[in-house]
Amino acid sequence: MDKKRKILIDTDPGIDDGCAILAAMACEQFDILGILCVAGNKSLPVVTPNALRLVDFEQRNIPVCVGSACKLKEIGMGIVQENDGVEFHGADGMGGSGLDYSNRCLSDMKAWDFMLEKIKEYPDEIDLITLGPLTNVALAIQKDKETMKHLRSITVMGGSFERKGNTTPYAEYNIWFDAEACDIVVKELADDVKMTFVGLDGTHSCVISYDEVTLLGYEGGKRGELLQKILSSYMRNYWFKDGLLGAVIHDLFTVLCITNPEVIKEERRVRCEIQLDDEHYGQTKAVEGKPNVRAVMKIDHQKLVRAWMMLMMPEKQELIDRMFPEA
Ligand code: BDR
Ligand code: CA
Repeated sequence: MDKKRKILIDTDPGIDDGCAILAAMACEQFDILGILCVAGNKSLPVVTPNALRLVDFEQRNIPVCVGSACKLKEIGMGIVQENDGVEFHGADGMGGSGLDYSNRCLSDMKAWDFMLEKIKEYPDEIDLITLGPLTNVALAIQKDKETMKHLRSITVMGGSFERKGNTTPYAEYNIWFDAEACDIVVKELADDVKMTFVGLDGTHSCVISYDEVTLLGYEGGKRGELLQKILSSYMRNYWFKDGLLGAVIHDLFTVLCITNPEVIKEERRVRCEIQLDDEHYGQTKAVEGKPNVRAVMKIDHQKLVRAWMMLMMPEKQELIDRMFPEA
């Protein structure tokens, strides 16, 4: 019997998305049904090739779908996300990975149609992981809300309940980019589908060090070399833009919260409301009332690094046991 978890990844790759996708592909318990691309970190013509690069790099046959080129409220207005939005991820959106790509796995289905088709095929079995803005998910809900209620779970990288935002004082980037989309997802699905937010409260509680990335580069073969390459540009940006030495790899941490739930040190049940007024636009606010989402508040650094290394270079278990022993 196939016991693998069926996974859909919605993403805007993105350096940390890239790390997350590599981890998800390495997880033997995951059956990744598709990678759905959305404009966010960069425009769709930049992020989609990055997803294709990663499936080629790992020689996998995972369909990659094109999704929304702009936020929900801009659809039909002829506006598309420009390629100069966020420089954090470098001109190619993936830290100068230098990887080739082909259209081998490019699907001709739109992201939201693919999502709906897979949920109909596997009702109540699919775990959706979102690592970018929620535009594709909102579009799928607008098309067929009843089918979307048959997701098994949704895990969203996004938001911040207690910590300051990283895009405005209140908002984290993914939610800020398309707050209307996130509002639809929470309002329409949170009462029926288990929803988790891995926001800045959780991700910023764990900083990956230069040494840890270097170890992967030295010992992790081609995969480790790629990670070291793309993360050195990411860490450089963290230092020069935020004065943070090391890397908070948001999307990777989100995937690891699913592959290895022991990395979650603290979580909370909250009633989440998405703020849409100008000042607080994109804020995920905990309000009074019956909790509708789970929020990851703290991550265990040692456990996370161990889990990541085990996924990226399982053949080096002895070394990992020595350097990052199980608690
Ligand atoms: C999120 O924003 C993006 O820049 C990252 O890829 C991550 O998904 C962090 O705020
Ligand atoms: Ca992302």
